[in-house]
Amino acid sequence: MKDVLFTLAEKKLLCDGVWEFTLASQEALPPIRCGQFLHLKLDGAFLLRRPFCIYKYDTHSVSLVVAVVGGGTRRLAELSAGTRLSAVLPIGNGFTLEKKHRKILLLGGGVGCAPLATVPVTYPDREYVSYLGFSRASNVMFEKEFGAFGKTVVGTDDGSYGRGGYITDILAADIDALCPDIILTCGPTPMLKAVARLSHQKKIPAYMSGESHMGCGVGACLVCTCAVKQPDGTIANKRACVDGPVFNLEDILL
Ligand SMILES: Cc1cc2nc3c(=O)[nH]c(=O)nc-3n(C[C@H](O)[C@H](O)[C@H](O)COP(=O)(O)OP(=O)(O)OC[C@H]3O[C@@H](n4cnc5c(N)ncnc54)[C@H](O)[C@@H]3O)c2cc1C
Ligand code: FES
Repeated sequence: MKDVLFTLAEKKLLCDGVWEFTLASQEALPPIRCGQFLHLKLDGAFLLRRPFCIYKYDTHSVSLVVAVVGGGTRRLAELSAGTRLSAVLPIGNGFTLEKKHRKILLLGGGVGCAPLATVPVTYPDREYVSYLGFSRASNVMFEKEFGAFGKTVVGTDDGSYGRGGYITDILAADIDALCPDIILTCGPTPMLKAVARLSHQKKIPAYMSGESHMGCGVGACLVCTCAVKQPDGTIANKRACVDGPVFNLEDILL
């Protein structure tokens, strides 16, 4: 984990209120794994850093996909190329695959698709199938990027693009034919709850990356704690920043 000074190299509007930012660093970045995130410092008006998943990375740059939801993300969207920003990275446990996980199902909802795009980069020797869900056609993103990793199904809640309905219902209709070894997912809580039910029913392990509120990002303030079932059946408070943000969907209490 390192505090790195970046320059905002590029910003691109992906759909209404969602931006992709590419941050470039002169120094080489520490090694990054799939599902890890960074903690971005905005200007002086914003005391707390803001956490964002890493969407793409190489030795000297990272890209983030950011939905504008409040003051900090609005400020970020206003910045122009060339602005200097610092970020602590990489943070968190990220997604881990075992050797037995050969066929990987990536299931993303909206901007929650972004952290899943790093999984095939960290583990290029697996088979990938991706299910990406969005509310409507104008919000569809990432189809081409995930298409490069393998079969990709896009769904919209209102049926205006791809297959119609919630992406978890679309997946439920297909899952017996797909037979994945593991599901990796990120998206809104109702979607994660539906994935948890499906994973339990079909006995397919599933891991999710969550979005808790964060303060320090280094395990000290306990703002980000979430309840996680332990092997002995007890419930323990875990810090999403350093113990997560990836948890087994079987264990986390959503
Ligand atoms: C590990 C992690 C990874 C994340 N990755 C991404 C990402 O890749 N792309 C992205 O767009 N967002 C991501 N988020 C959420 C993002 O950090 C928040 O949307 C952002 O901090 C809000 O800042 P703000 O100042 O604009 O909003 P605020 O003014 O702080 O809040 C505006 C609204 O957003 C809600 N909000 C604030 N913080 C969070 C949060 N951490 N999670 C959920 N809702 C929040 C508030 O309740 C409020 O309704 C991630 C969060 C975590 C914890
Ligand atoms: S954000 Fe402070 S402990 Fe996780």
